[in-house]
Amino acid sequence: MTPLETAWERVCREAARLRPIHLRELFADDPSRFERFSYTFEDVTLDLSKEKLDTAALDALLALARTAEVESRREAMFLGTPVNETENRAALHMALRGGAAPPPGDDVERVRADFLAFAESVREGRFTDVINIGIGGSDLGPAMAVRALSPDADGPRVHFVSNVDGAHLADTLRGLDPASTMVIVASKTFTTLESMTNARSARAWLGDQAAANMAAVSTNLAACSEFGIPRERVFGFWDWVGGRYSLWSAIGLSLAIAVGTGRFEALLAGAAAMDRHFRETPLKENLPVLLALTGIWRRNAMGWPTVALIPYDQRLERFPAYVQQLEMESNGKRVTRGGAPTLNATGPVVWGEPGTNAQHSFFQLLHQGSDVIPVDFIAAACPRHADGDHHALLLANCLAQSAALAFGRTEEEARAGLTPTEAERLAPHRTFPGDRPSTTVLYRRLDAFALGRLIALYEHKVFTMGIIWGINSFDQFGVELGKVLAQRLAPVMRGESEADAGLDSSTAGLVTRIKELGR
Ligand code: F6P
Repeated sequence: MTPLETAWERVCREAARLRPIHLRELFADDPSRFERFSYTFEDVTLDLSKEKLDTAALDALLALARTAEVESRREAMFLGTPVNETENRAALHMALRGGAAPPPGDDVERVRADFLAFAESVREGRFTDVINIGIGGSDLGPAMAVRALSPDADGPRVHFVSNVDGAHLADTLRGLDPASTMVIVASKTFTTLESMTNARSARAWLGDQAAANMAAVSTNLAACSEFGIPRERVFGFWDWVGGRYSLWSAIGLSLAIAVGTGRFEALLAGAAAMDRHFRETPLKENLPVLLALTGIWRRNAMGWPTVALIPYDQRLERFPAYVQQLEMESNGKRVTRGGAPTLNATGPVVWGEPGTNAQHSFFQLLHQGSDVIPVDFIAAACPRHADGDHHALLLANCLAQSAALAFGRTEEEARAGLTPTEAERLAPHRTFPGDRPSTTVLYRRLDAFALGRLIALYEHKVFTMGIIWGINSFDQFGVELGKVLAQRLAPVMRGESEADAGLDSSTAGLVTRIKELGR
């Protein structure tokens, strides 16, 4: 057996030992579980005590991380080695926030100064509204962050249009004035079908104002100028910035316009603080590493295929969607860096909604459904608004849910207060099995610095999991096939050509039905 196989086997042995032990027992046996399995960095607490882990399991996971060379690969990433081997690129998004050195010659500081100066000019100028046109990483980061930092939004209103569904643009444009609206086309490649289609429609809507009211963010400067956007309003970045890691680059322009330079820089500083923590802290106290090891434990040792991400923070309502791209596009891979099938299951399905809303929709299944779905709870100790009793109730619910998942309600408890006949009838329905794990991420307050730190925590977690699985977390070939097929079908949908004979019968049948319905 290779050292890596031995390390995996040790993890699986620990899982087999722990699987039958209920979280109630783990807590009963160790009254200091919280002290033992919660970790801090600055005001962030990562509480793993409600995961089905103990010291021996964690030691096995840490040994796995060391055997998988997490430390040397982490250093390679920070040093700008082309860790994205299939595309022969570095993954140096940390260099955009002072967490690593950029490649020589790439003037990160100057580009940042340029786009922040532009953001300030838009904030001070005649614009009431800004539309960011982008998709995936060119949309989710700024859209999530603008929402998260809404108490800091003191610039023009910022809107996001991503979907090629014309409803998205049409609904956004309704009520806006082309004379006072700035349109930013954010696209790393400047070829993405959705963004280019929306950009062309927005340009037409702007009419005479288009030349003065459009800006672009891209690595493809030639395409921006061909589109008609003047060079002084085009902000570049570099191929070592992956789309889902690009919020820190000029892709964050719409966010900088919404919240201003100071807050944007605070976001970068928060992420850089997490970069330093990730790079310098021993694995056993390293928050992103511990979060990643918990993910490996859930996915591989316990075999749970999905993860729910539940921020108890309405302003983090887009955070699950953001992490969904980060994690599923990065680690949704089935071959190793060398091209062989992976030994283990890789990226889990990540999904979620804010609490407390989620409690009234899908939490029933989390508590009593037939699958175990581990949860990440995210919460701030203090609100950013005067809110009477709301925050106390919000946090009470957050803590109550993780406790209910972990400890459940025994059949005996479920029978309490019922007549014997009723107890017989209802106890099975009122029993909560418990033993359902969760992690809680807690910090003082959701400001720009804390948000930057939180995002970087998840970025580095995803990277660490990818290293342990031996996959490339920085490419995304899986999105290509659908794009190619859509190009083939677009002329058919437009009525410019007939469906070709090579189409499968389902797709051909649907094409026919759409045409019938469209008559
Ligand atoms: O969906 C694939 C993808 O390439 C993402 O990785 C990326 O964030 C998104 O499309 C948008 O790409 P671009 O910024 O080049 O328009």
